[in-house]
Order: sequence, then structure tokens, then C-alpha cells
Amino acid sequence: MAEVIVVGSRKAAGALVAEAIERLVAQQPDAVLGLATGDTPLPVYRALAERVRAGLDLSEVRGFALDEYVGLPVSHPESYHSVIEREVVVPLGLTPGSIHVPDGRPLGIETAGERYEDAILASGGVDLQLLGIGTDGHIGFNEPGSSFASLTRVKTLTRQTRDDNARFFDSVDEVPVHSITQGLGTILRARRLVLLAFGAGKAHAVAAALEGPLSASVPASAIQLHPRATVVVDEEAASRLTELEYYRDAFAQKPIWDPVIL
Ligand code: PGA
Repeated sequence: MAEVIVVGSRKAAGALVAEAIERLVAQQPDAVLGLATGDTPLPVYRALAERVRAGLDLSEVRGFALDEYVGLPVSHPESYHSVIEREVVVPLGLTPGSIHVPDGRPLGIETAGERYEDAILASGGVDLQLLGIGTDGHIGFNEPGSSFASLTRVKTLTRQTRDDNARFFDSVDEVPVHSITQGLGTILRARRLVLLAFGAGKAHAVAAALEGPLSASVPASAIQLHPRATVVVDEEAASRLTELEYYRDAFAQKPIWDPVIL
């Protein structure tokens, strides 16, 4: 099962995951990170940016974003190309040519998923994949019903996801209807998964993903299939977990030979 770590704050979660990434990069300077967008991973990026300001060099790191909107111009401030550039590439001092985002331009969209899969394979695969979770249980933009074997492809967003993401746009009508997203099968190929979730709004999805049955209806339940998955949650996001005391106990009793996350 996934290791569940309950932290006191988003900042503490960011520090914990940033430290693991720093250790990964120390072993492997050109490690491949799977990059999530949305609010959830921001504490990780902020903590990493602090470490970069203090001298950490991430310039050899390579990266693949999880997803992109289809049809939103790359230059739009809410395209994931723009978000990754603004929130990740610039503050972390990454090398722009080493960071990839799925191509959501309508021209050639039929082959964009396959091209993205090829690029991930050519890199040697993702070493550490960061994930958020949608209130509907999605990871990436794999909406309920997504196949556990799915690879990068176009998905239609649910109304709930469009409502959730409307805060980044002037209105829900401006939120694109389609996305191109790594599939659940793509995500499961990463060597390590780190899923973060904060706030009461995620509690139901977190409990269903971790403790419910494996089900395409809860795409994040796919992480139960991964041998090295860590879930970092605050108290609110953890509040519906039945086995919470066990997770706390397991973390408190964590053997010293078993490093956090890596
Ligand atoms: P959020 O989105 O991080 O903005 O809450 C998570 C997701 O939809 O995967």
C-alpha cells in the first residue's frame, strides 16, 4: 500500500518532498521529474526554489508535465506551458529545453499523445512523479472511467473539473473542454509516485483512492497498484481515512533504513 504521511501544514509537506527531491538529484543530477500543476504542488516548488536560492543546482534535471489543455494558446497565462514556465522552470532554474509539456495545439493533436509517450520513454522514464488529486478522484486529467492501462491521450473534462478550475479563468465557460493528459498507465510506469492533497475538499477523494476498491470510477485508486507510492496529506485531507491511526503509527515507527519517499 501507499505510505501515508500526515503533515501539519502545506509548508511542511513542501519541505518534506523538496528534501526527497534534493536527495534524488544528489544521486542522479539529471533525474526525470513528473510535474503536476494546480495549487497542490506549489509548496513543493516553493521549497525547492528556496533550496535553489541557497545553492542547489537543478539545471540538469529533466521534466514532464502531466497534462495540458487542448486549444488554449501556449501563450495564455493559464496554459500549463505558461504555468510550468512561471511556477517551476524559472524559480527552480531548470533548463527550458529539458522540460516537456504535452502539445495541446489542435493541429496534430491525434498524434500528440504518442509523441509524448515516445519522449518519456526516450528519457528513460520518470523517476519521481508528483501528483495532485481532483475532487472527483482524478489524477492528471484522467477523469472517472479512465482505463488503468491508458496512455497519454485527449480526455474530455468533467463539469466538476471545469468548475474547480474556473477560478483560474474569468468564467467556467473559458475553461477548455478537452485536455491532453498522461494516462494512468503512463503514471504507473514512474519509479516513484508522490501524491499530495490538502484541505477538507479532498478528504473524500483521498479516502476513496486509498481505502476504497480499485476502480476506474476513482482514477487515483490506481496508485494502490504502485509499489512505491507516498501520499502526503494535511489533517483535513486525511480526515476521512479509516486507518489513520495505523498510518500515523507506521510513520512514527518507520525503520531508519527506510528513507522518507525515496
Ligand atoms: P489542485 O488540483 O491542486 O488545484 O487542487 C488538483 C487536480 O485537479 O489534480
